[in-house]
Amino acid sequence: MDNKVLRCGLIGCGKIARIHTPNILATPEVQIVATCCIVEAASKDYAAKFGAEYHTTDVDRVLKDPEIDAVIICTRQDSHLRLAIEAASAGKHIFIEKPLTDTIEEGKRLQEAIHKSGVKLMSGWWFKYSPITKRLREVIPHPYYSTFMCRLPWTEQYIVDDEKGPLLYWGLLGTAGYNLHWLWHVMRSQPTEVYAMGYGGKATNTSSILIRFENGSFGNSVFTDMGLGGINPTKWYVEVQGGPKSAAIHGFTKLAFEGTTEPGIPENRYHDGFDKHWKLLADMCLNGKASTMDAWEASIPTIFTEKALESMRTGKSVAVDFRKEMWLPNGKLPESVAKYGDV
Ligand SMILES: NC(=O)c1ccc[n+]([C@@H]2O[C@H](COP(=O)([O-])OP(=O)(O)OC[C@H]3O[C@@H](n4cnc5c(N)ncnc54)[C@H](O)[C@@H]3O)[C@@H](O)[C@H]2O)c1
Repeated sequence: MDNKVLRCGLIGCGKIARIHTPNILATPEVQIVATCCIVEAASKDYAAKFGAEYHTTDVDRVLKDPEIDAVIICTRQDSHLRLAIEAASAGKHIFIEKPLTDTIEEGKRLQEAIHKSGVKLMSGWWFKYSPITKRLREVIPHPYYSTFMCRLPWTEQYIVDDEKGPLLYWGLLGTAGYNLHWLWHVMRSQPTEVYAMGYGGKATNTSSILIRFENGSFGNSVFTDMGLGGINPTKWYVEVQGGPKSAAIHGFTKLAFEGTTEPGIPENRYHDGFDKHWKLLADMCLNGKASTMDAWEASIPTIFTEKALESMRTGKSVAVDFRKEMWLPNGKLPESVAKYGDV
């Protein structure tokens, strides 16, 4: 492998690929040499944007190409498991958009495939790169409780429940997944129990998901796609209580503390880490650095979502133990999970 430039195939040329394009182009360590999309015109268009050597609609051509070191998978989640397992068996390193998989069992299959193939995987859950998250964890390292609220505008197509099947995952896993990972990362304790309620007594996107952690603390994810507005019309609002100190996060643009003279962050315009993905990917694949979101940590939103759905359907709290919900290399939680995402 050329140790200066990571030669990549881009798989899936849709909306998120468009968002990633300028950042990939701004990273000299990463070169897109092939593009692949089931829509040929999109594959061709992205090949031109990147100056790629070829474009194709055939994933196998990319996976069998010995000149390709890694794939950047930007398809929707219904193809993530299959493409990631195929890429791992072909010996390609992987960047894959979130969510990693739909179910806990699929996550375990992928973790085993990644471990046994020896390739590295990085996924796209990025709230931990927000300066607000980092500052909050410095000032309140062990909170007692936290409420993370995410609200999306009202759109009728998103009033989804069990009868509408997989759509549930688009909101609950795809978006509230950020809430769930963030709570675990900030509470710095492993979960023991999930109790959740959906709208109308059903399993719905709109939900309150309560997580109890081993150290006795708890976190609450509130997620709704039934409206955004009122006196606090921000998508995200978070409160964290840590004994005498507390914090409030408004829109991930403001962080304010109470009960301490430590400064918060009055104005923040950055949170997604999108500009950093690609250098981190190159460092991981070329220089042996640890993944900043490996296949174990990236499965956490799926684990919480599956447990929350079970709780919404049964009306009962559900036990959760990451040691059982992950495929464990050497029988132990990997460092990424044991250290609450600090890698
Ligand atoms: N990290 C973030 O903040 C963020 C933001 C938006 C979307 N996403 C994630 O990105 C993923 C893609 O979302 P999107 O909005 O870009 O979807 P999209 O539908 O706009 O794009 C997906 C693309 O993949 C192509 N595709 C589908 N199956 C394929 C296959 N088997 N082989 C090759 N190409 C295939 C489609 O033709 C399409 O061009 C989702 O998993 C979503 O959750 C992440």
